[in-house]
Amino acid sequence: MDDLTSRFQHDQFVLQVGAGTCRYLAAFTRGRSVYSVALDIFQAQLLECTGPVGARLQGDARILPFITDAFDALLAVMTTHQYGDVGRRRFLVEAFRVLTSGGYLLVKTCSHDDLARRYVESHFPSSLASNRKRYPSIPDLTREMQSVGFNTSAVEPRVTREQLSKREFLQKVMNGGNSTLDFLPRDELVNGLARLRSDLNDVNVVDLVHHHTLIQARRE
Ligand SMILES: C[S@@+](CC[C@H](N)C(=O)[O-])C[C@H]1O[C@@H](n2cnc3c(N)ncnc32)[C@H](O)[C@@H]1O
Repeated sequence: MDDLTSRFQHDQFVLQVGAGTCRYLAAFTRGRSVYSVALDIFQAQLLECTGPVGARLQGDARILPFITDAFDALLAVMTTHQYGDVGRRRFLVEAFRVLTSGGYLLVKTCSHDDLARRYVESHFPSSLASNRKRYPSIPDLTREMQSVGFNTSAVEPRVTREQLSKREFLQKVMNGGNSTLDFLPRDELVNGLARLRSDLNDVNVVDLVHHHTLIQARRE
């Protein structure tokens, strides 16, 4: 996102939907005179938000509580797969409405190949298939964006690395760091977690490589 953040220097209005704990929004706005709004459907997430964020609002990305032409940029990081097919389309229509002409929509998500590369998924056999149903493919998502009027100007892979202690990693998995696990049958979840623990028996630090896809779209 660094290449895009450089476009947002002064007096811009930025919205993040599904902002969670605002880690992306805080990074996006730090050091810039932008006015930022974080919106999430769960207030508990926003209560964790400590960064330099202008306003925190509980709300639904599918019915945005903002006037038309309100924002210069809208970020949706790892959230569009949570709205369902109809909800995602509603969100895109709303995103188009609240952006100014020339405004940017940035979606960070996982392609179906990105999903297959996730370390956790290899321990839970049915998770990949269920995730491929939840996450739209990148061609489908870009088509949906175009169908509501966006010009999709860039689609880029992103690779990030994260090192976690075994304890941090297992806590992240157990505490819902991967919403995939919410959909698994109980037996598969229990067996997968046992296998994960056993595979990490001699490991102190877990090296994670995250694969994502960034779609940049512009409201012409
Ligand atoms: C996987 S988390 C990502 C959080 C944050 N973007 C990040 O990357 O750190 C997905 C977020 O989307 C939020 N969410 C799910 N459905 C939503 C909806 N309909 N409207 C707004 N937020 C929603 C969840 O509460 C959660 O905070």
